[in-house]
Amino acid sequence: MREQVTISHEEANRQKTIIHRLSKKIKDSGLTYFITTLGCQMNVHDSEKLKGILEEIGYIPSDKEESADFVIYNTCCVRENAELKVYGRLGYLKNIKKERPGMLIALCGCMMQQDTVVQKLKKSFKHIDLVFGTHNLYKIAELIETRLETGETIFDIWTEHGDIVEDLPSIRKHSFKASINIMYGCNNFCSYCIVPYVRGRERSRTPDDIINEIKVLATEGVVEIMLLGQNVNSYGSNLDDKITFATLLAQIEKIKGIERIRFMTSHPKDLSDELIAVIAQSTKICDQLHLPFQSGSSTVLDQMNRKYTKEHYLQLVDKVKKACPNIALSTDIIVGFPGESEEDFEDTLKVVEEVGYDFAYTFIYSKRTGTPAAIMADQIPEDISKERFNKLLKLVNAIAYEKSIAHIGKVVDVLIEEVNQQNPLLVSGRLSNNHLVHLTGGQELIGKILPVKIINAKSFYLMGELV
Ligand code: SAH
Ligand code: SF4
Ligand code: F3S
Repeated sequence: MREQVTISHEEANRQKTIIHRLSKKIKDSGLTYFITTLGCQMNVHDSEKLKGILEEIGYIPSDKEESADFVIYNTCCVRENAELKVYGRLGYLKNIKKERPGMLIALCGCMMQQDTVVQKLKKSFKHIDLVFGTHNLYKIAELIETRLETGETIFDIWTEHGDIVEDLPSIRKHSFKASINIMYGCNNFCSYCIVPYVRGRERSRTPDDIINEIKVLATEGVVEIMLLGQNVNSYGSNLDDKITFATLLAQIEKIKGIERIRFMTSHPKDLSDELIAVIAQSTKICDQLHLPFQSGSSTVLDQMNRKYTKEHYLQLVDKVKKACPNIALSTDIIVGFPGESEEDFEDTLKVVEEVGYDFAYTFIYSKRTGTPAAIMADQIPEDISKERFNKLLKLVNAIAYEKSIAHIGKVVDVLIEEVNQQNPLLVSGRLSNNHLVHLTGGQELIGKILPVKIINAKSFYLMGELV
């Protein structure tokens, strides 16, 4: 199987021709679209690509799903809740479509890569128009064209990835910050996780591709980039010309115009000393590291197939903190994994306390059919998981509050991102360590990195003033 990403310019050109053809029909027709994105940054980035193509075709963004002509759900299946949400919305849209039969409904993303989901859609949701997966979203224009020509419901889901088709239009939320895929898929098969089954095997883009993309973004005014991959620390290990993530970062650091570099996600098993050193020396890599530990119990970690122990994780954190004293750590934690005892859970609490995370994303284990953990003995009853979850959340929030108030009185650089949605007299931005800050200011500050004095703090945001 190919592990290096190969790019098909031919296919990109074919799609551009279709987009152009379709735009002759759709441009100036006033047709609107509404896209809902569930799941992680990968999906958010995929939706930017979908928006780019839809707007090139001539669809106009709408802020109301009910009245949009083209409704699209970019789905996630990492936990059951995300799936239930989609089925719920589809039920609701059925009635709306009865009144407006011209409305097109499309589904794409990770959930569609599961056969059981596709079967269910075919059987019970006949009002949908287009279904495609994670490997072929660049084909959306072609799929719309086929749907319009044939009037049939289109199902086009690939079980394996093909060549990567890049260089198609894309629309970012912000002009000054952008996400870049550096790799696709995942090889880790953590026993609870569906991602490797729906996103395919790990494959890295070449450094040249990545650097060229970032250089172009920098010329367009992008100052902050987020490098995306399920496990960025293993970037490059399967390229023909091997390269490490640390080397890639060092090369990106040299790109003029880029001021801030973020990345996610780092798997602890592949966090090297070389990488820690590059982070420590860099002036552009942000003071932020997302390092999911999932469980504080080495027994549970083994069952999860995470390939590290609690001790190894804590050692890593220690090294990172010594090398980068200002770094804000964040993490993902699962409670209620099969077999998790009260003692295992206590270990998780201890790690949270010992590390002191600025941000922690906490999840109740969700059984995913097809993963090894789904058939493990000793699934934890919901009431116990919930109780543990609430206890964990309380601790996580208390620590987040401590981390937040420690900023009061400091002067920090903030990238101003947007006018505050609740209060138009305020703007909101992020510190290098990813803390959110609100301050008085207007539109003209957006996209600038400015010194801000922190004057107050709540658990999940800071208040500041320009200095
Ligand atoms: N590749 C990233 C995570 C991607 S999924 C990493 O390894 O860190 C994001 C998070 O969802 C995971 O870190 C995990 O905490 C959570 N998650 C994944 N599968 C889950 C499941 N079956 N139930 C509950 N949480 C899950
Ligand atoms: Fe899932 Fe593990 Fe891969 Fe992350 S590293 S996507 S948790 S299998
Ligand atoms: Fe992301 Fe959900 Fe897919 S977490 S990779 S959108 S299953």
